[in-house]
Amino acid sequence: MINIVNINKSFKDNLAKLIVLTNISLTIEKGSITTILGPTGCGKSTLLNIISNILIPDTGEVFFTNGSQNKIGYAFQNDILLPWRNVKKNITLGKEISNQNSIDQNFLNNLINEFEINDITEFMPSQLSGGMKQKVAFVRTILPEPDILLLDEPFSSLDFRTKIELEEYVLNYIKEKTNRCCIFVTHNIDEAVSISDKIVFLSKKPTRIIQEKLIDSNDRGSLLKFRLSTKYEKLYAEIAEIINDVYENKYI
Ligand SMILES: Nc1ncnc2c1ncn2[C@@H]1O[C@H](COP(=O)(O)OP(=O)(O)OP(=O)(O)O)[C@@H](O)[C@H]1O
Ligand SMILES: [Mg+2]
Repeated sequence: MINIVNINKSFKDNLAKLIVLTNISLTIEKGSITTILGPTGCGKSTLLNIISNILIPDTGEVFFTNGSQNKIGYAFQNDILLPWRNVKKNITLGKEISNQNSIDQNFLNNLINEFEINDITEFMPSQLSGGMKQKVAFVRTILPEPDILLLDEPFSSLDFRTKIELEEYVLNYIKEKTNRCCIFVTHNIDEAVSISDKIVFLSKKPTRIIQEKLIDSNDRGSLLKFRLSTKYEKLYAEIAEIINDVYENKYI
């Protein structure tokens, strides 16, 4: 569904040139969740910014199989809730910006109930905790029902159980319609094992893809149970080892 072809991206900082992404090619299949794991500063957010057309790559292209028909929902790493709009008005912002004026009130109310933010819909962002802000930002991303979900460390401030619930929501959301897919950035191995169909490991800068690992997601069942299984334990250990190798520069 998304075909990323040979992306290179560097930033110029005064006289120096910072090479970030090198020869990044990647296919994101329909109905799948691809997780990006890589060290701090390697260019994960930069890659999502390129996919969402916020940044232009130096070379390379991103193709979408549905062309411009795709709706992208992007939850930024530091999600900015507009401080002068209350929670409900922040949630409906995405719809307003994309000129989809018809807000499905039923869906909106279902989301507010499902994510248990009923009590805070009139709150201003300054009255929210970090985790609450992340929940609100996630609901805002989902409301326009995007085909492509770009999630940049979306649940990093949430408690264990809430995180699992939101991960399960993402899984169901992507699997319930055939034309959806998700790119998920995290530093959290639990999260990567729990929701990925594929994990992409990035190196330190200059950043390249070290490995793509397919995860068999068929018999996961409930995430809470899955996390107690031997299959989960084994995957966790394999991933931790690859990350460790990246950190210790074994791939350079
Ligand atoms: N607009 C910019 N101008 C100059 N340098 C930039 C710019 N945006 C990002 N960078 C640099 O590019 C590199 C990649 O940044 P990016 O935010 O994509 O990393 P990341 O992998 O998302 O890191 P983290 O895991 O900490 O979120 C960093 O070294 C950063 O300093
Ligand atoms: Mg980032």
